[in-house]
Amino acid sequence: MSSSAVPVLQAEKGESPTAFDVERIRQDFPILSQKVHGRPLVYLDNAATTQKPLAVIEAERDLYERFYANIHRGVHWLSVESTEAYEKAREKVRDLLHAAESREIVFVRGTTEAINLVAATFGRARVGPGDEVLITALEHHSNIVPWQILCQEKGAKLRVAPIDQRGEIILADLERLLNERTKILAVSHVSNALGTVNPIAEIIRLAHGKGIPVLIDGAQAAPHMEVDVQALDCDFYAVSGHKMYGPSGIGALYGRASLLEAMPPYQGGGDMISSVTFEKTTYNVLPYKFEAGTPNIAGTIGFGAAIDYVRGIGLEAIGRHEEELLALATEKVSAIPGVRLIGTARRKAAVLSFMVEGVHPHDVGTVLDREGVAVRTGHHCAQPVMDFFKVPATARASFAFYNTRAEVEALVAGIHEVKRMFG
Ligand SMILES: Cc1ncc(COP(=O)(O)O)c(C=O)c1O
Repeated sequence: MSSSAVPVLQAEKGESPTAFDVERIRQDFPILSQKVHGRPLVYLDNAATTQKPLAVIEAERDLYERFYANIHRGVHWLSVESTEAYEKAREKVRDLLHAAESREIVFVRGTTEAINLVAATFGRARVGPGDEVLITALEHHSNIVPWQILCQEKGAKLRVAPIDQRGEIILADLERLLNERTKILAVSHVSNALGTVNPIAEIIRLAHGKGIPVLIDGAQAAPHMEVDVQALDCDFYAVSGHKMYGPSGIGALYGRASLLEAMPPYQGGGDMISSVTFEKTTYNVLPYKFEAGTPNIAGTIGFGAAIDYVRGIGLEAIGRHEEELLALATEKVSAIPGVRLIGTARRKAAVLSFMVEGVHPHDVGTVLDREGVAVRTGHHCAQPVMDFFKVPATARASFAFYNTRAEVEALVAGIHEVKRMFG
C-alpha cells in the first residue's frame, strides 16, 4: 500500500472538528482529478458504482506482480500466499459486517448473485405452492426478479409491502402482509432510487415475531454506515464490493450458519465438494459449499483492501460527511423553482432523485455531463418505484465521502444551466 493510500482524518482550519480532509482523501482516487468536456469531473453517480482508491488498485497489482496463483489447491508458495490473502479478505468482510464466524461469509459476484443464490437454494427448498414471498415496493430489480422466478416455478405468490408518498415503507401494511404462508421477507436496507433508509431492525423484529426469515439487500447501506448483522439479527445480508470502493465482480453474502448449513448448494463444480464419485458427491464445509469454481481472486483481495481503506477513514465520519452533503444538496436543489424531489423520506442516505419540470431526465443528465457533472438518469433498476411516483425516470445525484460542498454547488449550477437551456 502506498503512503498516499492511508487517509488522514483531520480537522480543517475553521471547520467543525468532525470535518475530515476531503481534499487529502481525493488524492487517493486518481480518476477524480481529471477533466471531462474541459470541466473538472464531478462524480455524483456513486450509487451506481464508486471510484477506486490507489490502495485497491495497488492491492490487485501487487497480487499479479508477486504471488498470483489459484487458491485452495496448491501446496506451492504462490498458491499458499494467494489463498491466505483471499481468506484474509473474508475475515475483513466478516469483521465489517460483524458476523460471528467467517464461514458465514460467502463470496459472490455482487448483491444480485447473493440474492439469486438465496432464492435458488433457500427459496427452492422452503417455498412451495400457495406459499408467499414478501418484498417491498422500494426494491431494486435484483430483489424482485429472483423472487418472481422462484414464485413462478413453485406456484407461490409474490406479495409487495407498499410505500407512501415520502418513499417510506408503510410498516403497518408490511406487518399485515406477514403471515403463516410467508416463507421469507426480502427488503433493502437503503433504497437506491430514493435513498430511503428503511427501519430494518424493526422490520426484522416484526418478521421474526412470526418466525419468518429475513434477507437484507445491503448494496446501498454498507458503503455509508456501520452494519452489524448480529445486532440486526438478520438471516441474510447482501453487499457489492464495487459500491464500496472495491473492484467490480465481487460481493458477499452473509448467511446465518444454521441456515447455510441446511441449504443445498448453489452451483456444482470444483472447490464446493469434499468427494466425488459418479454415484454420489459430498459437499464441502461452509462457506466453500457455495463457492464453486475458481473465484474472483484479485477482486476479493481488492475488496479486502477497500474495506481496510474505508475503515481507515471510519464509517461514522463517512456517514457524517455524506449527511452534510445530502442536506446541502437537498436544501439547494429543492429551492430551484420547477425542481421536484422524488423521495423525501425522513431518513435518507446519500441519494437525491429529482425531476426538472418540462425536461426529460435524460436531457438533464446530458446537460449536466457537459458541465462535467456525472449523475445517473433512468429508472435506476427500480421501475415499480418510478411507476409509483408516476414518472418515467429521474435524475439521481448520489454522494460518496470524496465528494465536496463545491461539487454540490456545481450540481446546483448545472441544474440552473439545464433550466436556462430548456426554459
Ligand atoms: C439496492 C440495490 N440492490 C441491488 C443492487 C444490485 O447490485 P449489483 O449490480 O452490484 O449486483 C443494486 C445496484 O445498483 C442496488 O442499488
